[in-house]
Amino acid sequence: MAELSSRISGFYRLGLEERLKIIASRAGLSTEEMENLRSGGGLTLEVADRMIENVIGTMAYPFAVAVNFRINGRDYLVPMVLEEPSVVAAASNMARLMREGDGIRAWSSEPIMIGQIQVVEVPDMEKAERAILMAKPKLLEIANSKDPVLVRLGGGARDIETRVIETEAGRMLIIHVLVDCRDAMGANAVNTICESLAPYVEDITGGRVLLRIISNLADRRLVRAEALVRKEDIGGERVVDDIVKAWAFADADPYRAATNNKGIMNGVIAVALATAQDHRALEAGAHAYAARDGQYRSLSRWSKNGEGDLVGFLEMPMAVGTVGGATRTHPIARTALKILGISSARELAEVMAAVGLAQNLGALRALVQEGIQKGHMRLHARNLIIMAGAEGEMIDKAVDLLVESGEIRFDRAQEIVRRLKGEVKLG
Ligand code: MEV
Repeated sequence: MAELSSRISGFYRLGLEERLKIIASRAGLSTEEMENLRSGGGLTLEVADRMIENVIGTMAYPFAVAVNFRINGRDYLVPMVLEEPSVVAAASNMARLMREGDGIRAWSSEPIMIGQIQVVEVPDMEKAERAILMAKPKLLEIANSKDPVLVRLGGGARDIETRVIETEAGRMLIIHVLVDCRDAMGANAVNTICESLAPYVEDITGGRVLLRIISNLADRRLVRAEALVRKEDIGGERVVDDIVKAWAFADADPYRAATNNKGIMNGVIAVALATAQDHRALEAGAHAYAARDGQYRSLSRWSKNGEGDLVGFLEMPMAVGTVGGATRTHPIARTALKILGISSARELAEVMAAVGLAQNLGALRALVQEGIQKGHMRLHARNLIIMAGAEGEMIDKAVDLLVESGEIRFDRAQEIVRRLKGEVKLG
């Protein structure tokens, strides 16, 4: 199939149905998939009831598509699910600037997750550590016998590492099992492997195994994204310098870094929700990684190159899957993967990092220029105007009037809509 461009000019100006039709025709969505998107779920109560406990209903969120993304020479339409205004617009706008500068380059490591086995009450720590390393081939063989499907797909346990840690409750031996999870997020596979190794570990070390669980600090499953934005596209060299200064603030100050990284996660998590990933795991991994050198820092880095252009770089853990879990059971998540047109979890991770980087730039650009409230306020004004009963062409005019009034409140919105409808006299 010939590749279609993700550059859709004025996509946001189209009506919802028109937008849906464009995406549906590009992604080859079925009538049922379109209907699921329209009706806000596709998740039947029956499926929901099987996913978690005590279900009494379902809840819908807006499902949007960010346009303009070009990553590693390929165009992507990016589904995003979230409740916050301005995020999808910022992602699409920054992706457009990044595509002018040759697009985004992304890279991902092998999908290796870490499983941890905590061994306490070890009689001789050094001896136990040596014994575990000597038994490595046997332990890996046992681990791999537990998940033949993963092994057949090219994944499985790859390595075993040991660490001795000092804690409030004494010294402990921590065993890391490195598992290549291929296209799965991997929590189930890793936890099963850790649990299955526990009795052997006790035999070998003479200690007692306590926890056997995946680590969400997935620092062996990293993704990087890099992009260049030409100075003239972002408002000139002064803006480039200011963005670098804004980034330096985040890198040096945890209070700012938390907000900066929240902006990155605005993009990452919106794609995670659309594709039904474990977004709590992604958040935990991202923030732990941001503090890896002992200080919590920005996950991204912004600098100016020799030509005065802006260069952005993002590196973070990205534990995502395209098989297993809700990714396959949630019909909308399947549709989201179809719209993305990705063929592996690594490719999904690369797209998500690209969205995180674009999102970060969107926030920094707004913050160093007009501030973040202007865009938010316009959207807020639009919501109020629609709630006040404006329709069709009247909406834009009413939004302008409300923004100009400087009082973005519902009573003002109602007054403006009534005026435009001719229900009350101008005055
Ligand atoms: C708001 O959701 C995200 C921002 O605060 C991010 C940032 O400050 O970099 C705008």
